[in-house]
Amino acid sequence: MSSSTKGIVLAGGSGTRLHPVTQVISKQLLPVYDKPMVYYPLSLLMRAGLREVLMISTPRDLPSFRELLGDGRRFGMQIDYCEQPRPEGLAQAFVLGREFLDGSSACLVLGDNILHGPGLSETLTECATLRDGAHIFGYRVRDAKRYGVVEIDDNGNAISIEEKPEKPRSSLAVPGLYFYGPDVCDLAADLEPSERGELEITDLNRRYLEQNRLKVTVLDRGFAWLDAGTHRSLIEASTYIEAIEERQGLKIGCLQEIAWTKGWISKEEFRREADAASGSSYGTYLAEVLERAENKSAGG
Ligand code: TTP
Repeated sequence: MSSSTKGIVLAGGSGTRLHPVTQVISKQLLPVYDKPMVYYPLSLLMRAGLREVLMISTPRDLPSFRELLGDGRRFGMQIDYCEQPRPEGLAQAFVLGREFLDGSSACLVLGDNILHGPGLSETLTECATLRDGAHIFGYRVRDAKRYGVVEIDDNGNAISIEEKPEKPRSSLAVPGLYFYGPDVCDLAADLEPSERGELEITDLNRRYLEQNRLKVTVLDRGFAWLDAGTHRSLIEASTYIEAIEERQGLKIGCLQEIAWTKGWISKEEFRREADAASGSSYGTYLAEVLERAENKSAGG
């Protein structure tokens, strides 16, 4: 039995709110400024230090993800693929992913969630050491009733968690990034579909809460949490990424840069990636990263 943590990206769903844009293409393959949406959640798993990832999507879209990301070796990773025949809920990731996880701890990220903020790599790396219970996040939003909502006491302990409540008991929405210990598949196997016919991640998280094993970290106002599920939020996400990247000259969610920084791919492999992407601003950026590193090492 493995003791490490493995990642799952859930990138299926029907994308109804983005029709007709998503009529023939997966939402998570649409561009968010300069890269496919799925790069962002995948980069979160990489920053958490996770190199083994299962990509789950619809039978229609899975081949496109495979074409985009391959076996993951380009990014120093191992990426496996699994179909979700129908969108039967987020917690179904742990029914479909049981064999892949093979007793490991898990991090589930939704393919349309973008998270950006200070100290995120450290937080994620720390969360990936979790071996018991569950660890989720809370993020203050104006309109909590559209989300899973977690309520915490003065000491930061979770006291209730509800899915899309009529009357939210707090303003803390739960972003689509969840860490679980090795028993997650057993707990998910016991879930019953909700009224809307889905295995609800909120029901799974409530099981942990009832056992006093749910930890919540509140992401403060310095963080951006964007989900790009509507036409407006898609364009807002693109504008946000553009503003930060153009201001700083640094890219968010650049998989090759993260892989090289982590020592998962060699300089030569990185150079090949830069050459292969030449002609795009993404490729120019990779070339600049390489040049900066070479100048730095030449300068001592
Ligand atoms: P949602 O945004 O709730 O659903 P959706 O993507 O199908 O969009 P819409 O509401 O417009 O129809 O899903 C959140 C994320 O989880 C999104 O990345 C899709 C993914 N998802 C699955 O992969 N499988 C599922 O069974 C569900 C419910 C969602």
